[in-house]
Amino acid sequence: MKKGKKLYEGKAKIIYATTDKNLVIQYFKDDATAFNNQKKSIIEGKGVLNNRISEHILSNLSQIGIKNHLVKRLNMREQIIKLVEIIPIEFVVRNVATGSITKRLGIEDGTVLKEPLIEYCLKDDKLGDPLIAEEHIYAFDWATKKEIEKVKKMILRINDFMIGMFRGVGIKLIDFKLEFGRYKSNGKSEVILADEISPDTCRLWDSITDKKLDKDRFRKDLGDLIPAYTEVAKRLGILHEQSNVSAVNVTKLSSVKRKRK
Ligand code: TMP
Ligand code: ASP
Repeated sequence: MKKGKKLYEGKAKIIYATTDKNLVIQYFKDDATAFNNQKKSIIEGKGVLNNRISEHILSNLSQIGIKNHLVKRLNMREQIIKLVEIIPIEFVVRNVATGSITKRLGIEDGTVLKEPLIEYCLKDDKLGDPLIAEEHIYAFDWATKKEIEKVKKMILRINDFMIGMFRGVGIKLIDFKLEFGRYKSNGKSEVILADEISPDTCRLWDSITDKKLDKDRFRKDLGDLIPAYTEVAKRLGILHEQSNVSAVNVTKLSSVKRKRK
């Protein structure tokens, strides 16, 4: 399978065509953005870590029957994924209140929610991904009731699985964002989980110290983003405990790979 032309470039990833019309290549960039692109930086090695962490989570989700877009990881920065028509909704799942909900509703930071809360945001950068009600989704035909019912069931299973997976390695899953898409094959359309799941799209706190191990390190200028993402990868068993993956090492590895292409 050959890599074709660039189809789409987002804030953190690039999608390339392949010779198979149902499959595309997803390339993980090192770009970090926050507050709808108002804050930007390049953090060397971030794409390499997110590629690995997302591969680990999505392949574990496949094993419990959650269909998703991942076919296989190709190299340090790329994965083959199924081409889907993205449902233009960002599904935010919260277990503990922090971030935008605390400001929007005046909820105290760190409040543990009685049950997971699903919020819907319209995926539109120009509008700043506004929060919407479920009714907006049907009013404007962004997805059908049947699709959203299926998505909600998938979300709750994904959340249960991920809470357990992270708890097992001493990490609290505070909240995260998911995207879903329609995969069309053999004349049928099926809703599957799409996009990455990584410390860019989740809030992850150390179980004992509440240390932030996610993109809030960039959003809040806490520094040490690469060591935090590396810690997540190590605890999940993706990187060996002994391997001292510093930003420099990750960058070296990724540039070696890039030169070879
Ligand atoms: P928020 O508190 O800023 O609304 O974020 C909730 C969760 O969603 C948090 O884990 C970060 C993630 N998220 C994204 O992945 N992409 C986004 O564009 C936003 C706003 C949040
Ligand atoms: N990814 C979003 C942005 O670029 C927001 C965020 O993750 O905080 O702006």
